[in-house]
Amino acid sequence: MPRTAMIAANWKMYKTPAEAKAFLDAFLPLVADHDRDAIAIFPSPVLLPTVIEVAKGSNVAVGAQNIHFAEEGAYTGETSIGQLIAVGGTHTLIGHSERRQYFAETDAIVNKKLHTALKHGILPVVCIGEVLGEREAGKTEEVLKTQVTGAFAGITAEMAKPIVIAYEPVWAIGTGKTATPAIAQEAHVLIKSLLGVPVLYGGSVTPGNAADLFAQPDVDGALVGGASLDLESFAAICRAAASHS
Ligand code: PGA
Repeated sequence: MPRTAMIAANWKMYKTPAEAKAFLDAFLPLVADHDRDAIAIFPSPVLLPTVIEVAKGSNVAVGAQNIHFAEEGAYTGETSIGQLIAVGGTHTLIGHSERRQYFAETDAIVNKKLHTALKHGILPVVCIGEVLGEREAGKTEEVLKTQVTGAFAGITAEMAKPIVIAYEPVWAIGTGKTATPAIAQEAHVLIKSLLGVPVLYGGSVTPGNAADLFAQPDVDGALVGGASLDLESFAAICRAAASHS
């Protein structure tokens, strides 16, 4: 397993196509010496064709923030895996906490999406993490185990090989309250003991805290939201990861 599995940018519902293009034109030269596919960008679906076109031939992979589990159908507002593949996307996030919180995504839905992604050869980044109340109640381990078990139902060890997990404590996402490196390390060890796949950390990762997080032996990369919108910040996080790989 490579030490740095992936540094991923979750752009959420930000940027226009013109802004995305300007970002990549300036960003790609800054990370030209990184390993291929070690960096992935997850923009809104409407930005995918632009971002894929501009990133073509570079070492940066591009994926969706979400896919539907059905191959196609009457699912207004959703994106199918076939549509993602048709525009050249190779990765997808699955089960991001904002999907779980605002769009009622359950572990059972995450599981269906994971099966769909694997069936079509799309690399899945499955997001898990506890909310603050669960951590304060001492339930973090139980919650992570439940999420992992639900998400991975019917997935064999062989099938799990391309999967990447993102551990994102919900209380750390967009709050500026990063998990301490020790908290991240503890959760990553638990997740790896269950799954044996690379685990990224997500939740208020910045250029200021990235090096300390990557210094943990079981932090294999990062899923970055806010700080990935700024190309200098995201490039600095990628550099911090490269120096620990
Ligand atoms: P953040 O978001 O870096 O802004 O906390 C992370 C995420 O939601 O993936």
